[in-house]
Amino acid sequence: MPGMNESMTSPIADSMPVATPASYYQRHIFFCLNERSNGEECCAKHDAQAAFDHCKARVKAAGLAGPGQVRVNKAGCLDRCAAGPVVVVYPEAVWYSYVDVSDIDEIVESHLKNGQVVQRLLTPAHLGR
Ligand code: FES
Repeated sequence: MPGMNESMTSPIADSMPVATPASYYQRHIFFCLNERSNGEECCAKHDAQAAFDHCKARVKAAGLAGPGQVRVNKAGCLDRCAAGPVVVVYPEAVWYSYVDVSDIDEIVESHLKNGQVVQRLLTPAHLGR
C-alpha cells in the first residue's frame, strides 16, 4: 500500500476493502453451543443452550434486538473449550466466560446495551482448547 512501510501491513489488512459499509448490526454476540459425545470438555455441558435462550429473550425484552442493534447467534466450537462456556462479542472481539444466567444479564446490560466491558467475566487470554 502506498505510504505504508512493511511493518504496517499484514496479509489480512491487505485483503480488506479500503472503505467498509456501515455495520448491519451494532453488536453480535456468539454463543458456543458445541456438544461432544466423547467426554471431552464442551460448552454444551455447561448449559450453553439455556444461556443462549436466556440472552435472546433478554435482548428482545430490552428492545435491543434487530438491525442497527444487537444480534444473538449460535456458534459451533470457538476453540476455547478450556475456558467454556464462552461467548464472544463483536466488533470489540471481547471474550467472556460465564457461569450462569446472571452473568448473561450483566453482559447484556453492560456490554450489549451500554458498551461497557464486563471485566470480571473476561476469558483469560491464555485459555484455548
Ligand atoms: S466447545 Fe465451546 S469453545 Fe469449544
